[in-house]
Amino acid sequence: MTMTVTSRGTLPSYLTEGPAVFPEGFVWGAATASYQIEGAAQEDGRGVSVWDTFSHTPGKVASGHTGDVACDHYHRYPEDVALIADLGLEAYRFSVAWPRIQADGAGPVNPLGLDFYDRLVDALLARGVTPYTTLYHWDLPQALEDQGGWTARDTAYRFAEYAAAVHARLGDRVTHWTTLNEPWVTAFLGYGTGVHAPGRTGAAPALRAAHHFLLGHGLAAQALRSAGAREVMLVVNSSPVITPEQVADPAAAMSEADAEAVHRVDCLLNRQFLDPVQRGAYPEEVLRIAERHAGLGHIHDTDLRDIHQPADVIGVNYYNPCVVRSGPGRPANLAFPGTEDIEFADAGVPTTQMGWPIVPTGLSRMLARLSADYPEAGLMVTENGAAFPDTVTEDETGPRVHDTDRVAYLDTHLRAVHAAVSAGADVRGYLVWSLLDNFEWAEGYHRRFGIVHVDFATQRRTLKDSGLWYRDVVRENGVV
Ligand code: NOJ
Repeated sequence: MTMTVTSRGTLPSYLTEGPAVFPEGFVWGAATASYQIEGAAQEDGRGVSVWDTFSHTPGKVASGHTGDVACDHYHRYPEDVALIADLGLEAYRFSVAWPRIQADGAGPVNPLGLDFYDRLVDALLARGVTPYTTLYHWDLPQALEDQGGWTARDTAYRFAEYAAAVHARLGDRVTHWTTLNEPWVTAFLGYGTGVHAPGRTGAAPALRAAHHFLLGHGLAAQALRSAGAREVMLVVNSSPVITPEQVADPAAAMSEADAEAVHRVDCLLNRQFLDPVQRGAYPEEVLRIAERHAGLGHIHDTDLRDIHQPADVIGVNYYNPCVVRSGPGRPANLAFPGTEDIEFADAGVPTTQMGWPIVPTGLSRMLARLSADYPEAGLMVTENGAAFPDTVTEDETGPRVHDTDRVAYLDTHLRAVHAAVSAGADVRGYLVWSLLDNFEWAEGYHRRFGIVHVDFATQRRTLKDSGLWYRDVVRENGVV
């Protein structure tokens, strides 16, 4: 294989050279999430979410930033839909804020909350953009958290009722339904390490929450399907777990001890969610770890039957691989319980502003592996993108953002998707994260992922060079 040295390191030439044109019908789009963009935190009967509480708690989010205003998308959605359409995007993935639909997470629905998504869907369809609706992108109603949140079994049942209510209003126009976004992140960072809302800590709450997320997926998928939903997706943060040697050489051999480390972390990060949903069974390693740290009392006999609601399409959010080897780990690693003998290693390659290693081959690897392991499901890249420090410059045509690092990141990752498609993976589309710079969770507004720059003081939107580049990609159906 020819290797090319770029400013980002050494990459196989198929990731840097030549055209990469996608099959006809490949879907191009962008993604966002409610709490990250909407603002209007107290409007039209919206209740309080765990992210409102968390971001208003001093010390939890950088600079005390909150989503109170965010991109003010709740009011500016017509302008944002116009941007989506002007970019030529065919799909837009957004999430519904549960506290807008049921302020306390249960009981009668708030029609004003549903009205907003109704208007958004109509505006998208009027511009020929297909809506991809995510039901849960982390903004749990605080009232449910007060009753135990996702550590409580009941939350899964409430989630299915909420899913049915949203489908009842939008199901005549929305065909692509995602139950959960990144359950590993929200379970293990929200209830394990506590760096995300609701900020609880411990291995037991995280493992219990993970199980209840799965149950929530299963019950919501049943509710959606029985109401006639044609496509149900589960979106996972799918990082391939690799050794340091495999960063540069994906085919590098592993020692037996390293292979065991890779397998265990892969079970916690990926298989813990995909195997129960697609196969109806937990991996042995996950059960062993759960038993040690949380007991198994929260897993009821019929749960796996309910959870086994295979996704029609697995949504793949990819940013970076997870690099591990056998060796001294972190004591009491709450993100990965049961890995005290596993080292989470440095990839030794350039990183984005998040500190995440840039490894585009990880995306082709993940797509190939998912399509081999779960051939019954289609795949879609539901998020991919990068944070870099952007600066706005003025030239004679107006404001510009020359985000060359982001263009390079997106270009190589798109080529990685193309390589997976060429090798036979059933990848149906690609959604860039994100349409807009937005509230990046614990990092507040300090990390910009958008292909559109947002000036948070004025709410002015400026298409970055990556946006101009992506518009060409969409028009050409690939990189030419
Ligand atoms: C995945 C999450 O779904 C999204 O909300 C977040 O902003 C991006 N990762 C970047 O961290």
